[in-house]
Amino acid sequence: MTPLLAIIGGTGLTALDPLQITGSEHPSTPYGEPSSPLIRGQLGERSVVFLARHGLDHTLPPHKINYRANLWALHQTGVQQIVAVAAVGGIRDDMAPGVLAFPDQIIDYTYGRACTFFEENLSQVTHIDFTEPYCPDLRNRLILAARQLHLGARESCTYAAMPGPRLETAAEIRKLARDGCDIVGMTGMPEAALARELGLRYATCAVVANWAAGKVAGQITMAEIEQNLQHSMARVKNLLIQLIALLDPP
Ligand code: HPA
Repeated sequence: MTPLLAIIGGTGLTALDPLQITGSEHPSTPYGEPSSPLIRGQLGERSVVFLARHGLDHTLPPHKINYRANLWALHQTGVQQIVAVAAVGGIRDDMAPGVLAFPDQIIDYTYGRACTFFEENLSQVTHIDFTEPYCPDLRNRLILAARQLHLGARESCTYAAMPGPRLETAAEIRKLARDGCDIVGMTGMPEAALARELGLRYATCAVVANWAAGKVAGQITMAEIEQNLQHSMARVKNLLIQLIALLDPP
């Protein structure tokens, strides 16, 4: 059996319309409720599960998302690999709005989030290896799918996970650039680490929604972010369909 694939949709992707929906589940977990029901469906040749990270009506801000419930619910339903779609700001000069990027590294600047499953009733202390925070094999398949579609995606970059919900100051973005970060978002952690703790294959498709603070003159508006994401989502959906064709056959 090929591993069941889940897609976690972020801002701009609260529904996956090419998905032929076959059912939905409302699982409860030891950590509480996930952000949305798990929508089961058929995408191309594959059965997939879709979860809306910010809720189906996009009302959960990044610091209020129950990341543990989301990952636990997916794991419990049989998911073994996850493509996380995430809106980001562009820091590196080639990360203009509209660009798709597959990060291979992450720096976690978040705090105060429930960030591990390994904290209670432990028989031993566990430290997961996180040298490569994203699954190299799933990432390579995303890269190949994007090449086949000539999407010009950025194939290597470092994601800065910031606490939010506010956007950054210009000085914070300059600091992130000095740290080696290329894109900035608010939901990449602890999601990636929790997936690793559960042994799930996890990769991110980042969608640049705006230039990060201070990269260009003027303010960043939600209208700009939403409009850029709306323009990009057709490409993201095509990418996911192309990826499905590149996964090992069921
Ligand atoms: N910063 C952090 N998160 C984001 C941004 C940003 O500029 N754009 C979309 N998500």
